[in-house]
Amino acid sequence: MDNLDQLINEARAAFAAASDGAALEQAKARFLGKSGLVTEQLKALGRLAPGEKRERGAAVNRAKAAIEAALDARRERLREAALDAQLAAERLDVTLPGRGPAPGGLHPVSRTLERIERLFHSIGFAVADGPEIETDWHNFTALNVPPNHPARSMQDTFFLEGRDDILLRTHTSPVQIRAMLAHAERYRAHDVMPDLRIIAPGRVYRVDSDATHSPMFHQVEGLWVGERVSFADLKGVVADFLRRFFETEALQIRFRPSFFPFTEPSAEIDAAFMSGALEGRWLEVAGCGMVHPNVLRAGGMDAERYTGFAFGFGPDRLTMLRYGVGDLRLFFEGDLRFLGQFR
Ligand code: FA5
Ligand code: MG
Repeated sequence: MDNLDQLINEARAAFAAASDGAALEQAKARFLGKSGLVTEQLKALGRLAPGEKRERGAAVNRAKAAIEAALDARRERLREAALDAQLAAERLDVTLPGRGPAPGGLHPVSRTLERIERLFHSIGFAVADGPEIETDWHNFTALNVPPNHPARSMQDTFFLEGRDDILLRTHTSPVQIRAMLAHAERYRAHDVMPDLRIIAPGRVYRVDSDATHSPMFHQVEGLWVGERVSFADLKGVVADFLRRFFETEALQIRFRPSFFPFTEPSAEIDAAFMSGALEGRWLEVAGCGMVHPNVLRAGGMDAERYTGFAFGFGPDRLTMLRYGVGDLRLFFEGDLRFLGQFR
């Protein structure tokens, strides 16, 4: 084998050993570069006699062409290998269905509010509402909590800067006043007034934050005013509602004597977690009582003729109980990994 054949074989072996583009370029320089082995052979031609030169020159050029061909072939192989590796790494299944928009879902507290509205609708309660920025008068004074009354400290209020006559409502009870005033006005010229039966769901605000208190939370006010509305009616309506809401007769609830300036007598309602780690633990879900005569009067009602009961449920707490969630702040952090579980 002459030295040119050996050179070709060496070049082929060097190219084959190059496993990527950079290694191949290095191998190329060794043979075809400015001072590469092939270039040296070409330079050496100058030292030959004219007769030998033509024959040797043709042989060197054939060897050079063979090495260049080997280089091109190896380049092509490496390019294909790189493409195969990329295709394998980025494999696409074009037969998969498209992604489309993710299906939305109602917030768990919205679901609770819808259920509450549906259940109370079925026993003749209409839905009323009022503003979240409320007057001090509707939120407190008309509810038998005059300015400077110590009961105002039961609810730690957000006021608006530079104003002491309006505030973020601390409860939905001001809607009692708005609904009574509207009802009284509507039936002012009549001898008989139909019963007023409303619920008022909405957002309320207090300076509060722990596992069972959020600074923004929801309440559902309830109000039934008529002739001979009694505390027994209150207990019946509330107990029936809770059993239907939780879909079990086995629900444990208790009425705990309490105080609100706007009801007399007053109670708070507790319900027990029915399953999970919190099973058996009581959670306060509402305040309630018989509407105080001063409140009936502030609402334009004849307090001698009419009585009424009222309640204020915490639907966020009902949602905790229904789904066995121990911290209500989870509902308001907007984490879809949590919220998406309630579809
Ligand atoms: C009231 O707000 C009264 N207005 C309820 C009422 C209405 C009594 C009508 C009588 C007649 P209380 O502060 O207890 O009461 O709140 C009522 C319910 O709202 C509580 O039982 C609880 O379920 C819920 N709640 C109160 N504060 C928070 C809070 N920071 N976060 C979540 N829920 C709350
Ligand atoms: Mg309370």
